[in-house]
Amino acid sequence: MKDDAIQVGLLGLGTVGSGVAQALQTKAASIARRVGRPVVLRRALVRDLARERVVPRTLLTGDPAEILEDPTIDIVVELLGGEEPAYQYMLAALDHGKLVVTANKEVMAKHGPEVLARAAARGLDVAFEASVGGGIPVIGPFRLDLLANDIQEVTAIINGTTNYILTQMARGGVGYSEALRDAQALGYAEPDPRNDVEGIDAAYKLTILATLAFHARVRPEDVYVEGITRLAAADFRYAHELGYAIKLLAIARQTTRGIELRVHPAFLASTDMLASVDGVYNAVSVEGDLVGRILFYGRGAGAGPTASAVVADVIDLAQRLQAGGGRAPVLPALDTARRLLPISEVWTRYYLRLVVVDRPGVIAQITKVLGDHEISLASVIQKETVEVAGAGEVAHAEIVLMTHRARESAVQQAVREIAALPVVAQVGSVIRVES
Ligand code: NAP
Ligand code: HSE
Repeated sequence: MKDDAIQVGLLGLGTVGSGVAQALQTKAASIARRVGRPVVLRRALVRDLARERVVPRTLLTGDPAEILEDPTIDIVVELLGGEEPAYQYMLAALDHGKLVVTANKEVMAKHGPEVLARAAARGLDVAFEASVGGGIPVIGPFRLDLLANDIQEVTAIINGTTNYILTQMARGGVGYSEALRDAQALGYAEPDPRNDVEGIDAAYKLTILATLAFHARVRPEDVYVEGITRLAAADFRYAHELGYAIKLLAIARQTTRGIELRVHPAFLASTDMLASVDGVYNAVSVEGDLVGRILFYGRGAGAGPTASAVVADVIDLAQRLQAGGGRAPVLPALDTARRLLPISEVWTRYYLRLVVVDRPGVIAQITKVLGDHEISLASVIQKETVEVAGAGEVAHAEIVLMTHRARESAVQQAVREIAALPVVAQVGSVIRVES
């Protein structure tokens, strides 16, 4: 074994960075055996130099140039988060001849093809396994093991925070705000949880997966996104009664009319494998023409699982260095002409929950609007009487409608017309049904 170590520079020493630093230290001997040379942490970039860290103070720096421009550093691991300055630091690291590892889904979703092209042009590589699904291997399989397939569909639960909240709402009968407070108290949700609960984090991850799956240029703004903030405890009660779970799904589907890209809450039949993915767990289901349906499942976040993916990428790149070079990625040409289907053209089934005046003929008025838009009903159930503020003596009831497959634009138009009917007090929820 060569004595001279492969040197690593860490950008960021937060949740993931600390997990990576600890793994590099505690597993130093086994990593050195796997690589054929020691792999050591040379320096770590942080903002707050005074805070106690998992590495000696002498390794800390507040100056990115001390990592990006240090000629002794071979591999830069970017774990800052956010688009900037992370993106510029990754480009600078490549320009200084370094291999790069990142867990940054925002940068890889917005700029992944450019970052990889810059690396390839310099005979380098950027590894990003941890950017989707934390510790679950999904990027590697798409970049290698599934290459023989034409991928038809990726359906995933790829945000642990929202899956934890939805699981609590399903199990505890609690509302969204209570479940979010619980997730924050346990450290699963960020103090500012918007990226997670509004579906943005999942959309970044879906962008990366869809780009790899379809070899198409997909951008975050191509993904239709709806978060979980408007779901009510009643939706979980009815979903359970009807034999469904509610999950925040990320769907990339090749159809004859184009590629569907969407992140939104969905009813999922309780017999579906994804319906039993609970808590902070993630799962990615992939359908390929040769392989059929496969499922990746595991912890999608947290220091240990994410460090597992980051350190594996470091080992892979270190092995390549040890073998004599950085070896650039082979970049499959990205198809820029593939049609991406707008959400208005998607066909699926729908669950509608309405609060209506409880008197004869009301359901007939609603079903007429649906019929006018060629939306066929699978079932209509009148649920319990509900109190409506300011309604006086007028009794109201909640009704739940399940449709057959219908076009999104038709459903949205019908919902607008239904909401305008004098007998409708409220359109509680419109949730897509995927099975
Ligand atoms: P984090 O806990 O917020 O840590 C960020 C680290 O970067 C901190 O050490 C911070 O310094 C440092 N930092 C941020 N901006 C900086 C700047 N401009 N200059 C210098 N240092 C800066 O974040 P994290 O949860 O570890 O996430 C890191 C990355 O991994 C993100 O891209 C995230 O999306 C991804 N990821 C996270 C998880 C997870 O479970 N957390 C899972 C998968 C992927 P200070 O410590 O001084 O504040
Ligand atoms: N915030 C993300 C989640 C973790 O809740 O899944 C990092 O990907």
